Amino acid sequence: MADQPSSSTAADPWFQNLFAERIGGAKYGKGTEIYKFEKIKRAKRKALAEHPERKLLDFGIGENDDMAAASVREVMKKEIDKVENRGYADNGIANYKEAAAEFMQRQFGVKLDPITEICHAIGSKPAYAMLPAVFINPGDVTLMTVPGYPVAGTHTRYYGGEVHRLPLLEKNGFFPDLDGIPADIKKRAKLMVINFPNSPTGAVATKEFYKKVIEFAHQNQIVIVQDAAHILLTFSGEPFSFLQMDGAKEVGVEVHSMSKGFNMIGWRLGFVCGHPKIVQAFADVKDNSDSGQFMAIQHAAAAALRNPEIPIQIWEKYRRRIKKLVDALNAVGFQAKMPGGSYFLYAKAPISAGELKFQNAEEVSTFLIHEQSVCCVPWDDAGPYLRFSATYIAKDEAEEDQLMKETVERLGRLKLQFA
Ligand SMILES: Cc1ncc(COP(=O)(O)O)c(C=O)c1O
Repeated sequence: MADQPSSSTAADPWFQNLFAERIGGAKYGKGTEIYKFEKIKRAKRKALAEHPERKLLDFGIGENDDMAAASVREVMKKEIDKVENRGYADNGIANYKEAAAEFMQRQFGVKLDPITEICHAIGSKPAYAMLPAVFINPGDVTLMTVPGYPVAGTHTRYYGGEVHRLPLLEKNGFFPDLDGIPADIKKRAKLMVINFPNSPTGAVATKEFYKKVIEFAHQNQIVIVQDAAHILLTFSGEPFSFLQMDGAKEVGVEVHSMSKGFNMIGWRLGFVCGHPKIVQAFADVKDNSDSGQFMAIQHAAAAALRNPEIPIQIWEKYRRRIKKLVDALNAVGFQAKMPGGSYFLYAKAPISAGELKFQNAEEVSTFLIHEQSVCCVPWDDAGPYLRFSATYIAKDEAEEDQLMKETVERLGRLKLQFA
């Protein structure tokens, strides 16, 4: 590659100039920018080193704190010993797909054919990585809400596509403004990824909004992907699937996850369901990318999907914890509200602490870790907000209450001021 412009140095490996442009090309690994989550990790390490006596109050973790239900683990223990579960699972076993269809019918009244309208995925994250491969050619656009889960956008870019960001603003009820999308973008857009209940804002979709989304999809010939990762953690009203809407299946798919609502975050399983042609195309891409999740895990997850008690218990726990968090944060000046769903509380960041003024939420979060070892996640995509997760570690309600008391005491010392 001697004739290529080189930014390699003697310390670089011989293939430094071979890295693909999508990950930075020859500059790969040389950037000085530090990503948000790495900054948080570093700030946590520093706070622990400087104040070893001070317990970290960690509201930054976005993962369920409990393991899967005992009954689910029991199924896993049995299935793991069966010789018929040893092999490639390809695009999923019938038992899991049938359990997913039963779940969609029981929970939402949505009737799906388990053979043609459901396909498993090794967690929903890989599904977002693969769906752009189904639709995106160079120059095509994916509409993505921000703040949000970025994976489909990253892979859109990998395929030479563009991402058009739709900010979720409080003044719009955290719904994207579909009417404000420029005509040129609408013309080139092929996919729109939405997520309800929304992470991190906590907004739940209304039927009116979903109706508008379906009309928008038809008018502009855009496929809808609805991310339902948090759907069983719906606190205002009943959990509501996009596929409950008349005509939704005509315009897209909904992606479900075993992670949040069933405490199976590390087991890696989810499913894509909806329009059979999109499900089929997804399955084709998937078949060329992986060989399916371990069948024992699929059987265990099928048992979880068939047990309505499991998500109810998880829902009760996180609803209780979110309520306590709302009270604790409001006691120190936040204007936190119970979210419509998700185990996150998304609250406007303070503008100052005493004399110290903040430019953005990231500065606030670093300050809270340094000053009081209180960890949360900043979002600055659509105004400065902090995300507090109810997945913190506490073994019982008494410990939860103690943690809330400690949070109020520590944040109370900082003289936080809000706009
Ligand atoms: C909004 C949202 N969607 C999807 C995912 C991916 O979940 P999983 O891959 O565990 O199914 C997450 C995980 O954090 C999420 O927050």
